[in-house]
Amino acid sequence: MRLAQWAQEDAAVRVWGETDALEVSVPLPGILRVRVAPEARAGTLSFPRLAAKRSFAVRPGLPSGQTLDVQEEGETLRVTGGGLSLHLDRRTGAWRVTGDGTETELARVLGWQGEAPTARPALDAERFNLRRSRLSLSAPDGAAYLGFGERVGPLDKRGMQLTFWNTDCFPHHTETDPLYVSVPFTTVLRDGQAHGVFVDETWRMTADVARSHPHELRFASAGPELDVYVLAGPHPADVLRRYADLTGYAPMPPLWALGAAQSRWGYRTADDLRAVIAGYRERDLPLDSVYVDIDYMDAYKVWTVSGAGFGDLKAFVQEAAAQGVQLVPIIDPGVKVEAGYDVYEEAVAGDHLVRTVRGDILVGEVWPDPAVFPDFTRPEVVAWWAGRHKMFTDAGIRGQWNDMNEPACFSLAQPRETEGKTLPYDARHGQRSHLEMHNVYANPMSEASRAGYARFAPEIRPWILSRSGYAGLQRHATVWTGDNTATWSHLALSLPMIGGLGLSGLPFAAADVGGFGGDTTGELLVRWYQAALGYAFVRNHSALGTADQEPWRFGEPFTGLIRAALEERYRLLPHLYTLAHTATHTALPVLRPLALHHPADEDALREDGEYLLGEGLLVAPVMAAGHRKRRVYLPAGRWAAVSHLSASTTVHDGPVHLVADAPLDTLPLYLKAGHALPLTDPTPHTGEAHWPRLTWLAHPDETGFVGQVYGDAGDGPVTGQLTRVVGEWRDGALHLRREADGPLPDRTEELQLIGLPPVREVQGAADFTHGDGLLRLTLPGGAGEVRVVLKD
Ligand code: GLC
Repeated sequence: MRLAQWAQEDAAVRVWGETDALEVSVPLPGILRVRVAPEARAGTLSFPRLAAKRSFAVRPGLPSGQTLDVQEEGETLRVTGGGLSLHLDRRTGAWRVTGDGTETELARVLGWQGEAPTARPALDAERFNLRRSRLSLSAPDGAAYLGFGERVGPLDKRGMQLTFWNTDCFPHHTETDPLYVSVPFTTVLRDGQAHGVFVDETWRMTADVARSHPHELRFASAGPELDVYVLAGPHPADVLRRYADLTGYAPMPPLWALGAAQSRWGYRTADDLRAVIAGYRERDLPLDSVYVDIDYMDAYKVWTVSGAGFGDLKAFVQEAAAQGVQLVPIIDPGVKVEAGYDVYEEAVAGDHLVRTVRGDILVGEVWPDPAVFPDFTRPEVVAWWAGRHKMFTDAGIRGQWNDMNEPACFSLAQPRETEGKTLPYDARHGQRSHLEMHNVYANPMSEASRAGYARFAPEIRPWILSRSGYAGLQRHATVWTGDNTATWSHLALSLPMIGGLGLSGLPFAAADVGGFGGDTTGELLVRWYQAALGYAFVRNHSALGTADQEPWRFGEPFTGLIRAALEERYRLLPHLYTLAHTATHTALPVLRPLALHHPADEDALREDGEYLLGEGLLVAPVMAAGHRKRRVYLPAGRWAAVSHLSASTTVHDGPVHLVADAPLDTLPLYLKAGHALPLTDPTPHTGEAHWPRLTWLAHPDETGFVGQVYGDAGDGPVTGQLTRVVGEWRDGALHLRREADGPLPDRTEELQLIGLPPVREVQGAADFTHGDGLLRLTLPGGAGEVRVVLKD
């Protein structure tokens, strides 16, 4: 290929040859975009000026791109802007991206190629060209590839072949690919340095991550181009932040959504749910929400409520709310075909439905049978669906669960070959094919939910859960990992899966606690609740026909152990809520893989069985039957053992592998020196996040420590403030003080200091106790300072 010509126009540089075209821009500092269009002349993209593209991933309202400088250096074209440079070899089409001025290479594209589209849309699935556009990046030795959306296997995807085609797959296994969520974004880690690669294509796509070619990362898309973004680091956190600057940050969840949740496919009536709530309350188990599965509907008709089972939804929502419990009903996209059913009638009359390639309304089977599918990819359909949410907001519902939105379809009225249980490649979304729109189907469905709540209940902070999605979903919803099973392997799998979702821009992901399919056991359930300490939300959910798995179903000691695990979570809520707030402006997920904060540490990168909650708290759950100890890896730093969230005098110097005691009542936890954790008292359910009582667990290092806590009303506008507690060593004394962005909250704050040398005196504290290397004191109410003076 020869890319002989180029032109600079607006904030883009276009380069083209006989048939190929390339468009370079820098939408934001540190983010370089290259639209690579092989065979553009033969395609539909217009040539050589590529037509504007609608992206579902990129957030609305992005400013116009950075100014670009272009230099011709022989056959190389160098385009510089926003701190990055692209070097394009116009003979071969190969290009690389470097940091501006530094010549540090981020990404290197070895080549790309394409095939012209088939003249007529093929009807037979096998005749679709699924590899129409291809691009190969260099995958140097030692580079690790994190993220890529929802994937099984280890956090590092090197050596895997990945498909981007959202799939309802039950049961999935530890080798299954693809699953429900497609995010073609990876953070590449090499020698402790990170950069990102994001390919914004909703078309069916594959990524061969140095599997068939050990030094190449190969993308192949069924679409006419590859829209590639290279994101600068150098830290993984920088890559994540840039990705969210481009695709949007997740909105703040309400506090109640972080509390304990119970769900089950098989609660049929309001009385079943009453019994669940009573079951929690009678046993003093914390509970904040109950998810309501498909049985609440009348004959699986979405936006209906079964009169027989539920009666007055609003009255029942109020009854549950009086006990501190929110109801989170499910909504599926499939609309039952039934004359007179208003949702179906409106969908047909408004031309809101997905059609077959022949132009008829596509009819399939989901829970309702027959069923038709709204085409959420069109804005007018989003507006229509948003309007439907009034039924929920009128009833006082504040959260919902969008399921089956790959979309799942068990069979078709006119049988066709499909990839997985979904719609055929050539189904029509307006002018576009399902092959292009499949992966993104769930995004505008959840966008509609958020729009619905914004319209009808602007005073609340809605909680939207989605099973499926594409890049950018985080603006509308979070995800759970779908239909897992009640096995130890799935418990272990949940951590790199949630970690990988977090590194794909979805900071609030979680897995079903206890496992969805199959029968759990008391021990597995206890260990799952412990491991879920740092899931963004904790939902016990299980499938129809499986053994009951509410926390009390296995008797003692399991019920008591689950209560303790839940109480531990409720004590940690000030920290978890602060992490959630941090995620909304940094994109750092709640549950963080170790590699995020220790990018140069190989052991940390391979440690899929642990996670961090913030930089300072390391969680090492037991995830094997019968084990009462576990091997723990602690990266660089000093780590105090703080299991049960209580101070201890055991401190380890990392990096170190050690064996921790972990009897059935214990989740091993470690607090890094330099950090302080905000804790509160457990409650039966959450209320406002103003934390009337706080206890800081602080572990000073040689300079001191910092802890922070975010507080607000727990729902509604996000107008709270951060409060900090700071410890600083000066003149042989540790100086302690509280700080806040606004007025200091009026509350009692206790501080427990770990790992202190012997103390001579404490000045300024209301009271204190000291012994065994631990110091407990009450901080003064205002801005006063406490001095902890050491013995000489
Ligand atoms: C799907 C969901 C599952 C739900 C079931 C019935 O399998 O993933 O969570 O319980 O449908 O609605």
